[in-house]
Amino acid sequence: MKVLATRRYPGAAFDELGDVEIGALEAHDDVEALIVANEPVSADLFPALRLVANFGVGYDRLGAEALRARGVAVTNTPGVLDAATADLTWALILAARRRVVEGDRRVRSGEWRGSWADGFLAEEVSGSTLGIVGLGRIGQAVARRAEGFELRVLFTRRREGIALDELLAESDVVSIHAPLTPETRGLIDARRLALLRDGACLINTARGEIVDEASLVAELVSGRLRAGLDVFAHEPNVPAELLELPNVVLTPHLGSATRQTREAMTRIVVDNVLAFERGEELVTPVI
Ligand code: 8YV
Repeated sequence: MKVLATRRYPGAAFDELGDVEIGALEAHDDVEALIVANEPVSADLFPALRLVANFGVGYDRLGAEALRARGVAVTNTPGVLDAATADLTWALILAARRRVVEGDRRVRSGEWRGSWADGFLAEEVSGSTLGIVGLGRIGQAVARRAEGFELRVLFTRRREGIALDELLAESDVVSIHAPLTPETRGLIDARRLALLRDGACLINTARGEIVDEASLVAELVSGRLRAGLDVFAHEPNVPAELLELPNVVLTPHLGSATRQTREAMTRIVVDNVLAFERGEELVTPVI
């Protein structure tokens, strides 16, 4: 089976695929399987295409509906990145809430002159209220870690949990863990951002497009909210206004970016491609 991958994905499992072409998603008459990282796939360029194996759990940019309509199978990599993404979520919660990055800058700039960091007070993490938007696998991993910090946890989940507006109004920290779908695009809009308490902290390790980015930028520029952001609406572009703000911690889409997790993701991608090649059931099909 002729396989095209958009890069060499990390880990030894990738070599089990044997002969794989590495390159851009340009027209190929003979390619039957693609390995991509949520890059848009135009099925017209690949008339022989039968499988798209996505390196990542979220496949919102692939164009999955059009692929489905053409009978192309799609797989993703659920489960193996829950711990890494939940860990990064906690890194952002702690960094944003306790002003860790601001503190680091203060030390490096020589502004810090004694053990009494005058006026440099943050808000407590322990004992505060965490609102989880989307209690799926990753949201649950975040909630389990919250037990150690003795947080009160609120959550929304399709048709379960408390109402989103109520969660936003009651939480000190709100963390987003929903997939990007037509229902969640722009879910946290200007009206909902305004429901957050003064000084509340918004964490996003899911997808930038779930939040109305312009409205979030306005709230952060005003200084009313804090944020920890790993994802953005137009990656790798980050709104310029955020770059100078002390009240936001920015990371470059690192949720799954540990060696162990990325290698486990490659393992699932490869298992799906090999299963397809052998005519066996796919390991993690999404359509
Ligand atoms: C990326 C992710 O896929 O799994 C997801 O949904 O967002 C990440 O794991 C990964 O960074 C490769 O693009």
